[in-house]
Amino acid sequence: MTKITDPQYYMDMEAKHGAHNYHPLPVVLSKGKGAKVWDVEGKEYYDFLSAYSAVNQGHSHPKIVAAMKDQLDNIALTSRAFYNDKLGPFTKFITEYFGYDKVLPMNSGAEADETALKLARKWGYEVKGIPENQAKIICCEENFHGRTIAIISMSTDPEATENYGPFLPGIEKIPYDDIDALEKKLDEIGETTCGFILEPIQGERGVYVPEDGYLKKAYDLCKKHNVLFIADEVQTGIGRTGRLLACDYEDVRPDILILGKALSGGTMPVSAVLADDEIMLTIKPGQHGSTFGGNPVACAVAQAALEVIRDEKLTEGALAKGEKFRKYLRDLNDPNIVLVRGKGLLNAAIIKERNGLEAWDLCLIMAKNGVLAKPTHGDIIRFAPPLVITDEELEDALGRIKKSVEEYGKA
Ligand SMILES: Cc1ncc(COP(=O)(O)O)c(C=O)c1O
Repeated sequence: MTKITDPQYYMDMEAKHGAHNYHPLPVVLSKGKGAKVWDVEGKEYYDFLSAYSAVNQGHSHPKIVAAMKDQLDNIALTSRAFYNDKLGPFTKFITEYFGYDKVLPMNSGAEADETALKLARKWGYEVKGIPENQAKIICCEENFHGRTIAIISMSTDPEATENYGPFLPGIEKIPYDDIDALEKKLDEIGETTCGFILEPIQGERGVYVPEDGYLKKAYDLCKKHNVLFIADEVQTGIGRTGRLLACDYEDVRPDILILGKALSGGTMPVSAVLADDEIMLTIKPGQHGSTFGGNPVACAVAQAALEVIRDEKLTEGALAKGEKFRKYLRDLNDPNIVLVRGKGLLNAAIIKERNGLEAWDLCLIMAKNGVLAKPTHGDIIRFAPPLVITDEELEDALGRIKKSVEEYGKA
């Protein structure tokens, strides 16, 4: 069968039969390798989104793909009604890798976040001694933790919440990067609060990096009030920011660590919640579950994905390449780039509107010039290439971004 290479064919079909989801750029991809992707017409692009940081190890990393294929040839799914020979070794591997007593494997990032909320509540009642049904979770405004009902109950984004109520009770929202607000809130309700959940960098908000010291101060306040510090590192974790975890920048060890996305190198949904026994053992057999969570393919893939990060020194590479990226964009001194920020290879630029054009239009120009990136919110473009991008590829991509910014300035 000849392959249809008209992008419009695929876009029309999806618009007709598929529900709305995100708002994609009009590019139809059919192949990926390392830091590059190709569309159905064969045009090559650098991928500066990495599927929202899921593809840290690069598209179709051979080691991860081999682990997946090999496991598929043996057994894909057992459910956790039975044991399998992959889950045990994987739990040992990942808990040693991140330094926790236990792991609870799930699938999507939102599901892992939900699991963390359940775990925090359970700990709140059974260890901290919060009276029945009074447990509170403190979260941050402008967060992004996913799309399920419990998770959007924490959201302050009208797009995520409009007409989806009623929402989960027991959620308290405070401004992000505001240590006084956390202190005040904990002084008010610390006794009945089981957890404080946050992203160490707010990715979807536009790679908003908090003040140095915020994470540590927040962690210390949580300790003072016997509240669990819950880090959603679904987007920031696994080397992306130039440290294995973004919390490592402040030597903060979250009580509950949430991972997803790059845990599979972007090959399938794999997420995980890590915590020590005092917290994790509050969930007894039968009290939480998932048919696919911890399936043998996920275990094989996640182990390979984490090995790739370590063996290829992708975290260290992200640190150096990130600095190069930000310096290059800042040194352009382009009046249409208002601000460049980020850590490692999780970066964003704030783009000035001009002549009715905005960040979205710059993304279209960049796509034409062979770089795929997307606005997060309004005027902010996130730049997050796979960590395997080589220095030469990065330089080439930066040249294309420069050219695009110049075209934007003339348009
Ligand atoms: C910080 C954070 N948490 C959770 C999620 C949700 O992950 P998923 O889309 O796999 O449910 C995302 C997705 O972008 C995220 O960035």
